[in-house]
Amino acid sequence: MKSSGFGIFMWLLNWKKVGICTLVTASCIALYVLNTAGSFLYLKVNISEGPLGFLLPETAFEGTLEPHDYYVVPNVAHLIWFSCHQFNFIHLLSIVSIYKVMKPDRIVFYTDCEPMGQWWDEARLVPVLEVVQRDPPTEIFGRKLNRNIREHWADVARLDILSSVGGVYFDTDIFVVAPLDSLRKYDYVVGRPSRYTLNNGVILTSSNSTFLKLFLDSYREYNSFCYSCNSVFNQNKLAWKHRHLVHIENESMMKPNSNHWRTLFFGKFPWPAHHFTFHVWIRNFQAAYPDVVFTPDYIKQLNTSFGEICRYIYYGDRTMTSDDSNRIPWWTNLKVDDNR
Ligand SMILES: *[C@@H]1O[C@H](CO)[C@@H](O)[C@H](O)[C@H]1NC(C)=O
Ligand SMILES: *[C@@H]1O[C@H](CO)[C@@H](O)[C@H](O)[C@H]1NC(C)=O
Ligand SMILES: *[C@@H]1O[C@H](CO)[C@@H](O)[C@H](O)[C@H]1NC(C)=O
Repeated sequence: MKSSGFGIFMWLLNWKKVGICTLVTASCIALYVLNTAGSFLYLKVNISEGPLGFLLPETAFEGTLEPHDYYVVPNVAHLIWFSCHQFNFIHLLSIVSIYKVMKPDRIVFYTDCEPMGQWWDEARLVPVLEVVQRDPPTEIFGRKLNRNIREHWADVARLDILSSVGGVYFDTDIFVVAPLDSLRKYDYVVGRPSRYTLNNGVILTSSNSTFLKLFLDSYREYNSFCYSCNSVFNQNKLAWKHRHLVHIENESMMKPNSNHWRTLFFGKFPWPAHHFTFHVWIRNFQAAYPDVVFTPDYIKQLNTSFGEICRYIYYGDRTMTSDDSNRIPWWTNLKVDDNR
């Protein structure tokens, strides 16, 4: 009697073990499938910010890289402009913000098709701007880059440039709103837009950073079909593995993220309170509001935080005023600025 009771007990225990194992394995497989599909289709980001976010395992993590007590990132800005397309007022504001707020020694603009037009002519007034002819890369570690995804060419070119000279890479729709010097003491700095992504739209790095080498090396697995896998999802996975090699800015570089572009354009939020940079999701905005054209006049009456940021960059004064005599464009006092 006793032994058969024990037998049943053991059987139950075994069944439980097998049952739990099956359950765990099944949910692992389900999560894995969800994960893979998610990275591929951007679902991950959308899910992570929705009510089902708790289903996904990774959480926003921080890097543990220690700063040096001296600068390791050169005070040089790098921008890339591949293929001929229109240079608008937002692009101008991006370059002006880098010039006025970051105060780099050089702003190097790599392009295979130098822009034209009013706003580019104005950008050329930036004293430290250098235009460098550069063709887009066509392959990485023997893998052909997708010819239809211009962003992939720039993804690879920026890692190449940063590996040879270091410095700060900016996408052409980044606004700098606070000095970056404190960040130039880390070997590698990147900003987080969401739990699953690290955006490569701003990277501060020394040319010899170990993480930069690992990131570039990860392009041996380059996936030409997936828009964000290599640069964004993969960088996050890599940083998760090598947290001691990165400094991550959670809130201050890539927020509001592209899912929240309406907050950026229409909201009121404190700034630069916790911000070094803003990623201006101008393509999202323009798709929804194709008739809006940003100009120096248009930003004068924008009663939003974005309006304040634009005025701060262009006029050096964030306030909204009907008195135009207070409006002095950034280039008016260039000579004074230059003696800084
Ligand atoms: C970064 O995000 C994590 C997870 O959300 C949070 O625990 C941490 O406090 C954040 N760090 C900073 C500096 O905001
Ligand atoms: C990279 O080079 C800088 C200056 O040359 C040095 O201070 C730093 O320690 C180096 N970092 C690494 C990871 O080797
Ligand atoms: C700007 O918007 C705020 C509400 O967010 C309002 O109180 C204020 O009067 C507006 N200012 C102007 C000049 O329209």
